[in-house]
Amino acid sequence: MSHQLLKGKRGIISGALDENSIAWHVAQRAFEEGAKFTLTNAPIALRMGKINELAAACETEVIPADATSTEDLENLYTKSTELLGGKVDFVLHSIGMSPNIRKGKAYGELNYDWYQKSLDISGLSFHKMMAAAEKLDAINEWGSVVGLSYIAAQRTFPFYTDMADAKALLESIARGYGYRFGKAKKVRVNTISQSPTPTTAGAGIGGFDSFFDFAQKMSPLGNASAADCANYCIFLFSDLSRMITMQNLFHDGGYSSTGISEEVIELMKKG
Ligand SMILES: NC(=O)c1ccc[n+]([C@@H]2O[C@H](COP(=O)([O-])OP(=O)(O)OC[C@H]3O[C@@H](n4cnc5c(N)ncnc54)[C@H](O)[C@@H]3O)[C@@H](O)[C@H]2O)c1
Repeated sequence: MSHQLLKGKRGIISGALDENSIAWHVAQRAFEEGAKFTLTNAPIALRMGKINELAAACETEVIPADATSTEDLENLYTKSTELLGGKVDFVLHSIGMSPNIRKGKAYGELNYDWYQKSLDISGLSFHKMMAAAEKLDAINEWGSVVGLSYIAAQRTFPFYTDMADAKALLESIARGYGYRFGKAKKVRVNTISQSPTPTTAGAGIGGFDSFFDFAQKMSPLGNASAADCANYCIFLFSDLSRMITMQNLFHDGGYSSTGISEEVIELMKKG
């Protein structure tokens, strides 16, 4: 269903690896809503993923960029504005990776070099993306920047280890840069705190299936899907949300406000 909510808008969408990726759904919806945008991902992911299929379907191009590299990010904005014919109106940061989670390291046994990688890829890169845009003046006034977060930034989920710290950093950067960009250019910056979602990054977390089911049972509306998340991103990119900034917005079917549910009580019953 299209309302042409993004007609005339230009954007950059990072993080689409395959059709499960949240960013994949965002790209499909942004295209339906009339936006023109470029896609980007880490050079290594371009070799593994199917992003070129998505680019063809969205009538666009892929510009490789490692989100930890300021040089790559500046090139991304320069090429995107050239290709799209002007400054961008929206940017999606849909990037996360923790080598410690990949290797199954417990929180007390983190490899600190990897920890720094997790923070750099999953948190700092959000800052770098905005700093590069600011330097090149690549985002239009009233533009919208969105990052994807998880509730482990506020509450402990033992298997989320250093990604929890990276998400706390990401959400803090949304406030810090949201203030700066709001004052300078009326650009808004928000994070969406999304339900567990079966994607490559999601399924890499230890115990993912169990906490997906738990969240499903705890949320009165059930877990929000990647497609639902894409709709929320479209709203945040659109002019309908122009006074929302510096927020971490829970998009989780009610999970974050639920203490316990009847379904979970039922599961806990003895005998
Ligand atoms: N899946 C979930 O349960 C869930 C829940 C809440 C938030 N999120 C967040 O959503 C975002 C998107 O993840 P997803 O679930 O769609 O998984 P995904 O694995 O499909 O996407 C993660 C993307 O990050 C990219 N990436 C990794 N390192 C990069 C780098 N150095 N430079 C540029 N890109 C890089 C990957 O190539 C991949 O495309 C992440 O920030 C993730 O933490 C996911």
